[in-house]
Amino acid sequence: MFRILVSDGLQENAINKLLELGFEVIDEHYDKEVLGEKLKDFEALVVRSATKVTKDVLEKASGGKLKLIIRAGVGIDNIDIYTAHEKGITVKNTPNASSDSVAELALAHMFAVARFVGTSNYTMRNGEWNKKKYEGIELGGKTLGIIGMGRIGKALANKATALGMNVVYNDAFGKQDDIKYEFLELNDLLKKSDFISLHVPYDKENGSLIRKEELELMKDGAYIINCARGKVVDEKALLEALDSGKIAGAGIDVFAVEPNTNEALVNHPRVSCTPHIGASTMEAQDRIGEEVVSVIQEFFS
Ligand code: MLT
Repeated sequence: MFRILVSDGLQENAINKLLELGFEVIDEHYDKEVLGEKLKDFEALVVRSATKVTKDVLEKASGGKLKLIIRAGVGIDNIDIYTAHEKGITVKNTPNASSDSVAELALAHMFAVARFVGTSNYTMRNGEWNKKKYEGIELGGKTLGIIGMGRIGKALANKATALGMNVVYNDAFGKQDDIKYEFLELNDLLKKSDFISLHVPYDKENGSLIRKEELELMKDGAYIINCARGKVVDEKALLEALDSGKIAGAGIDVFAVEPNTNEALVNHPRVSCTPHIGASTMEAQDRIGEEVVSVIQEFFS
């Protein structure tokens, strides 16, 4: 019988389905000090973002049964894929499951910063009635620059178009013929967009994609949304741009350090923030569970 370690939780339906299919499932989170040794007895490991499958963990698991690691989500930055590859361990993710949820959250942040939704919630609860202060803008008619036109970027583009936004995009793979939106080089997109939404992984070698220089290129009073990875945007530079008014608002779901330690950023009156909940919807989690089951089924069949 194949044994699966579910380290950061998984939908109950998915666990039940795996049991029905004859897998043994252990739903338990082990500390990094013991995880590697424990993994020797499992054929597969399922993680979300909390478990860090580092080189050290994989070295300790070496010589054991581990053949498959599944990231129940999109980003695989918490898994050392190079070491896994060296050790003949397959790494998979669930790229299809959460696109709509992340795209909806990006939109939610766009509405929030454009209309002061979070800030006015907070100030009203403190007894304030700042009607005059909260004159916002409409999303309709504005240009949305999407950086990273993968599944999430495309889902966001469709939803934003339905709201009357004009979508332009940039992508590391360049212009793609099957995408109907206008492709712009990064600097042109930065200069042209009223809203920018990021949907790219963090590039460890090159560092943050959006730094002081990029923020300076943006339109005065533009907005930036990051539901990708915290370090994609240099938080210090962003805070300075918010303070100077260069950037009118930022919607942030992801942080350089998680749980977040940058209090100045989350307390900024023109920041809308959420604690990395892009994929945290019932629908996305159900789909992630289904995708995890089918990956395991296919791999061990
Ligand atoms: C992902 O990579 O799937 C998303 O950022 C959501 C998450 O990490 O929980």
